[in-house]
Amino acid sequence: MAATHASISVIRKLQGKVAIVTGGASGIGETTARFFAEHGARAVVIADIQSEKGRSVAESIGSGRCSYVECDVTDEEQVKSMVEWTVKTYGGLDIMFSNAGIVSSSEQTILELDFSQYDALMRVNVRGMAVCVKQAARKMIELGTRGAIVCNASAMSTIGAQKFTDYLMSKHAVLGLVRAASQQLGAHGIRVNCVSPNVLVTPLIEKVGLNAAVVENVFGPFTSLKGVVLTTAHVAEAVLFLASEDSAFVTGHNLAVDGGLISMPIFNSE
Ligand SMILES: NC(=O)c1ccc[n+]([C@@H]2O[C@H](COP(=O)([O-])OP(=O)(O)OC[C@H]3O[C@@H](n4cnc5c(N)ncnc54)[C@H](O)[C@@H]3O)[C@@H](O)[C@H]2O)c1
Repeated sequence: MAATHASISVIRKLQGKVAIVTGGASGIGETTARFFAEHGARAVVIADIQSEKGRSVAESIGSGRCSYVECDVTDEEQVKSMVEWTVKTYGGLDIMFSNAGIVSSSEQTILELDFSQYDALMRVNVRGMAVCVKQAARKMIELGTRGAIVCNASAMSTIGAQKFTDYLMSKHAVLGLVRAASQQLGAHGIRVNCVSPNVLVTPLIEKVGLNAAVVENVFGPFTSLKGVVLTTAHVAEAVLFLASEDSAFVTGHNLAVDGGLISMPIFNSE
């Protein structure tokens, strides 16, 4: 009998899987952690530095299925211990969503690039991303798991922009990481992909002075798809696809979740 739409919607794409979500205390990571649990993941580990928020998200998902671990992704020892803890506690590791990221508080055009902010951002967005991919992949290989690694890049991973030079550079690097790691890990059956969302309202974006109205007015005209406002759920759906067997033959891919972005607008955050 053909599956109805209703029956398709309850298919659990991650039944029995163990997943780590870095930066899962907030924004895209939080929504994705919830989606992973809804899709049958046996365990979701939220790794973040915002402990109060992270614990509360984990509790609301359910203590039997979700845990919070305080972990700074820039510190390789902390990431290694968090991965070890996950495997010891839940018996495996199938999915790593390397999502934690930050943005600098100033505009960072090339003429004003502030290298203390640049270094701090690169430490999280590039080094932290690579640490998580490395430690997850090493553990998956040790366990003989054909796992899925998904990184969070950005629409800024492939185009230029008038501002946020450090952020834009860091997201180009994430794409480079995904391209290199996917080639190197394919022999172990590990897939490595990334999502590249357009701008959407989360605490990260609010930090640079953007709100829902500005995002819609400024970025809306630069997407070819009209009548949809990007949400964390849209991004989480794309991550779910790349984390699940639905994408079993997809690796090294940069999945744009950008509504057909034409170019980055010139905008003022004030
Ligand atoms: N919001 C957007 O418009 C947008 C667009 C494209 C890509 N992204 C990317 O999505 C990812 C998630 O961002 P978001 O928009 O959900 O923002 P967010 O600020 O809501 O979430 C980021 C999370 O990362 C955590 N984090 C920061 N530094 C960390 C560290 N050193 N170790 C562990 N955790 C750390 C934060 O505590 C936070 O919970 C980022 O990589 C961001 O670059 C966001």
